[in-house]
Amino acid sequence: MKYSIPRGTYDILPAESYKWQAVISSFRKIAGSFGYEEITTPIFEVAELFERSSGESSDVVQKEMYRFTDRKGREFALRPEGTAPVVRSYVENHLDVLSNRTKLYYIGPMFRYDRPQAGRFRQFYQYGIEFIGSDNPYYDAEVIAIEMLWLKDLGLKNLRLEINSVGCSSCSADYDTALREFFRPLLPQLCADCNNRFDKKPRRLLDCKVPSCKALRGSAPSQLDYLDEACKAHFAIVCEHLESMNIPYTINPGIVRGLDYYTNTAFEVIYEGLGAQNSLAGGGRYNGLIEQVGGKSIPAIGFAGGFERLLLALEHEKINFAEHKTPDAYLICLGDKARSGVMAYLNALRQNGLYVEYDPDKSSLKAQFKAADATNARFAIIIGDSEIEAGTVNLKNLKTGEQQSLPLDGGEVLLHIVQGQV
Ligand code: HAM
Repeated sequence: MKYSIPRGTYDILPAESYKWQAVISSFRKIAGSFGYEEITTPIFEVAELFERSSGESSDVVQKEMYRFTDRKGREFALRPEGTAPVVRSYVENHLDVLSNRTKLYYIGPMFRYDRPQAGRFRQFYQYGIEFIGSDNPYYDAEVIAIEMLWLKDLGLKNLRLEINSVGCSSCSADYDTALREFFRPLLPQLCADCNNRFDKKPRRLLDCKVPSCKALRGSAPSQLDYLDEACKAHFAIVCEHLESMNIPYTINPGIVRGLDYYTNTAFEVIYEGLGAQNSLAGGGRYNGLIEQVGGKSIPAIGFAGGFERLLLALEHEKINFAEHKTPDAYLICLGDKARSGVMAYLNALRQNGLYVEYDPDKSSLKAQFKAADATNARFAIIIGDSEIEAGTVNLKNLKTGEQQSLPLDGGEVLLHIVQGQV
C-alpha cells in the first residue's frame, strides 16, 4: 500500500530545510532586536475561541476551520491563525501582571481548509508578532517597521505596504449603515455569502473574492470617511511615523481583513509577482479582543506572514541566502583495526562541532577519496591500521593537496581544520 500526503500540505525536504532555517533564524533575530520574545501555543484550541474572535461570519470560521470532536465530545479546532491563541495564553497566564507592555512573537503551522493553489495551503507556516499593552500609534508603526525592515534586509524589492483604518466600534456603526445602503440595491446580483452577511457584517462584502461581487463594489463608501476624530488622529499619526522612518505606504480603504477582531489600523504587505496570493503578511490593531476572550480591556496590535509566500518571493527575486552545508572533513579509513578503532575518534571530532562525513560501506582508498571529493569536503582525515598502531593520522587538504601526519590524540587535527590549513 502506498500513501500520499494530504492535499494542500507538503513535506519540507532537506534541500528546502536550509532555506526555512535561514528565514526562521533571521526572523527570530529581527524580532529579538525589537525586544520580542517567543511564545508557543498548542496547535489546537477550543473551537469557540476562534468562532468568537475571528467572527462567526468570517470565511475562516464558516468554511476553513478544521473542527473536530474529541473522545469526550468536546469541540476543538486546529488553529487557523495565531492571534487568538496568543491572546488566550496572555489572559490565562496573567502576562499583563508581569509587564504593561508585552512583546511576543511566534512561529508555527496553521490550518485552513482553503482551495490549495500556489502560495495557499491547508497546512501553512506563519511567523507573527503581537504587541499588547498600548494604543499609542508609535507601536502601530513599530510593528509595521519590524516586517518592512526585515523583508528589506532579506533583499526583497517589489514590496508594497497598504494601510487603512477600520475605525473603532463606535465609528464603525455609521459606516455599516452606509454600506448597507450602498449594497441593498445590489443584493440580487451578489453571491449567496454576501447576501447572508449583509445584515450582520456588511463590511465582509468588501472582502468577497467572487469576481462579479468584486466588480460591483468599486464605488462603495470608504471607512476613512466615517472615522471619528480620535480614530482619524490615530491614523494620521501612524502615517506620520511611517514617513519619518522612510517606510513607503499606500492608503487602501479596501483593506478590511478577513478576521473580525480588527480596530483602527489594518495593513497588508503585498508582493507583486506572487500571482493571486500576493499578500505576504497582514495584520492590524485589535483593541477589543483581549476583553472579548475574558481579559481586561487592553489594546494590542500585531501581524502575521506566511513562510511559503515569503520563500516564493525570495525565489522569484533569485535571492539565495542559504547554502547547503559541506563537510569540514571526510574520514577515510583503511583496515579492520582502523575501522573499529576510529569510532570514538569520529565521535570526538563531531562533539567538538566539526561536520565529518564517513561511509563504512566504502573500503578502497580510491572509492573513499572519490566520495570525499563528491561531498566537497575541505579535508580528508586518513587513518589505516598502521596509523592506529602508531597513534597518528594523516590530514590532507583536499583543495591544495598538502598533507601531514599528526597525533591521533589531542586537538591538533581539530585546530588545523578549524584554521583551514594543514
Ligand atoms: P491573515 O491575513 O489571515 O492574518 O494571515 C496572515 C498571512 O498568513 C497571510 O498574509 C499569508 O501570507 C498567510 N496565509 C494565510 N492563509 C494562508 C494559506 N492558506 N496558505 C498559505 N499562507 C497563508 C492572520 O492570520 C492574523 N492572525 C494576523 C494578525 C496578527 N493580526 C494581528 N496579529
